[in-house]
Amino acid sequence: MGRAKVVLFGNDTGECAVMYVHHNGEQRLAACGSVCPHQNASLDGAVVIGSEIVCARHGFRFDAISGDCCTLGGYGVPIFSVYADGDLVYVSFMDFDE
Ligand code: FES
Repeated sequence: MGRAKVVLFGNDTGECAVMYVHHNGEQRLAACGSVCPHQNASLDGAVVIGSEIVCARHGFRFDAISGDCCTLGGYGVPIFSVYADGDLVYVSFMDFDE
């Protein structure tokens, strides 16, 4: 179990939640939207279980890899491409492989 951390994008263009998740037997970084789409609670400090980030307000769970809501259909969070290089974490709206 871990926690998500909300960080700002550069140039005041928004923010996202960054976290370590367990996916397919490996630990990796993931980044998703910083606000729960249910009732707009911040996901800063949200508990991460496996690959799911859990909103503290009502417990909705979101898959941090796909962005899908695991609790109720019709909700979801945007996901972002992310990687770390030393102490720096890079997050992008686009895929880093493109
Ligand atoms: S505000 Fe996140 S589950 Fe309700």
